[in-house]
Amino acid sequence: MNQNETPLFDTLLSHAERKPIQFHIPGHKHGRGMENRFRSFVGDAALSLDLINIAPLDDLHHPTGAIKRAQELAAEAFGADYTYFSVQGTSTAIIAMVLATVGPGDKILVPRNVHKSVLTAIILADARPIFLHPEVDSKFGISHGLSVECVAEGLAANPDARALVVINPTYFGISADLSRIVDVAHSYGVPVLVDEAHGVHTGFHSSLPLSAMQAGADMAATSVHKLGGSMTGSSVLNVREGMIDPRHVQVVMSMLTTTSTSYLLLASLDVARKELAENGHDRISYAIDLALTARARINAIPGLTCLDESRLNSSAAFAFDPTKLTVSVKDLGVTGYDVERMLRENYNIEVELSDLYNILCIVSWGDTQADIDALVSALVQIADAYRDRQGKREVVVRVPPMPSLTMSPRSAFYAQTEVVALSESVGRTMAEMIMVYPPGIPVLLPGEVVTQESIDYIEENLRAGLPVQGPDDPEIRYIKVVRNES
Ligand SMILES: Cc1ncc(COP(=O)(O)O)c(C=O)c1O
Repeated sequence: MNQNETPLFDTLLSHAERKPIQFHIPGHKHGRGMENRFRSFVGDAALSLDLINIAPLDDLHHPTGAIKRAQELAAEAFGADYTYFSVQGTSTAIIAMVLATVGPGDKILVPRNVHKSVLTAIILADARPIFLHPEVDSKFGISHGLSVECVAEGLAANPDARALVVINPTYFGISADLSRIVDVAHSYGVPVLVDEAHGVHTGFHSSLPLSAMQAGADMAATSVHKLGGSMTGSSVLNVREGMIDPRHVQVVMSMLTTTSTSYLLLASLDVARKELAENGHDRISYAIDLALTARARINAIPGLTCLDESRLNSSAAFAFDPTKLTVSVKDLGVTGYDVERMLRENYNIEVELSDLYNILCIVSWGDTQADIDALVSALVQIADAYRDRQGKREVVVRVPPMPSLTMSPRSAFYAQTEVVALSESVGRTMAEMIMVYPPGIPVLLPGEVVTQESIDYIEENLRAGLPVQGPDDPEIRYIKVVRNES
């Protein structure tokens, strides 16, 4: 196949150039029916491609033309047997992977630090999660991947598991030894489903961790929009044939996908794949160089430390993506969120996320040296202002506790519930999720028992101003728990 082709984008362009009279949705008809300020800002060119699944443009739900060809080219580029496009982000691709492999009562091995979409899928499937402990980095207060030993023990104890979920790489750019994990899982006949939200670029550069498909995984939900150059909300689900039936995956993806698929998102996937395949290596080299020089300069600022290869010391922290610039700010006596706010308010810089101890800056080939210079110079000023100030508080790293699951997440989600004060909920079984977003990893999920440690962790995040979300009560003073039978 010729990776220079962009069949879907070309089809849309030639359709738009013909200017057909459109008696179909969307009703804005090339933008003419849209609010003027928005129309002139976005531009008629983009709006003329905001089309719908009429016959000449193919249909994501049953592709036979340009979308089929675009997905085949993507499969070749990603090293998959089949690739399915998602216009609903990686979350939908993750939910599809899980629903396509497990059903009611089936065991699924899952690292506890998964994104909420995995847990949503488990609730929908009524599957039985067997949580595995990811390795924890107590210096940075973050979770890494699963060690090979942890996966092997989980499988030995649950040889009847129907799937294993792995995050590769994590939000912070750390990958486990995925090839060995895949070998162990396959020796039990268990397929490996990879959350590759932060790893679309990995398969296109040898300095980066292996991609899921390179490591032999069975499915990977991959955010092309996060780091691969497509538009927000566009992702792919890559599938390897063998343990997985690709036709069934396509059916499940279709069940979960809107019938009004965005052609702008689909076309952006088509062109991003071409760019990755043709120029990805050079573009990624540029991003890696930028990130490495930024890391060296930030590490030279007293009080700041960047996550780097020195943290790779096990099969759970096995390979590293240097374009994820995680900066520990705790030695300044402030939280990551404090630094996020200072960067926003005083320097017009926005970071990807912050937590109690770190900020995470994503460096891509869209960045410039001037952007990096601005970040480094802002961090120098912040560190100078806070490093030696009077009354500086000592920040102690605490990692969220792993609560015990006493009820299936689905039973707890659909149980009779009552509302109790968070502060008085110790020992109660959660009926909703609580997470800090980003990164969207639940602190508590339906079926887990609340502990004082989890409450302390949630309250610490709330006090720091971090975005704690999930419960019906947006202020998280009250939570929904399973009603006690009396
Ligand atoms: C680890 C991880 N998995 C999955 C997702 C979901 O991706 P999306 O936002 O494309 O739905 C995210 C989003 O931040 C994530 O961080």
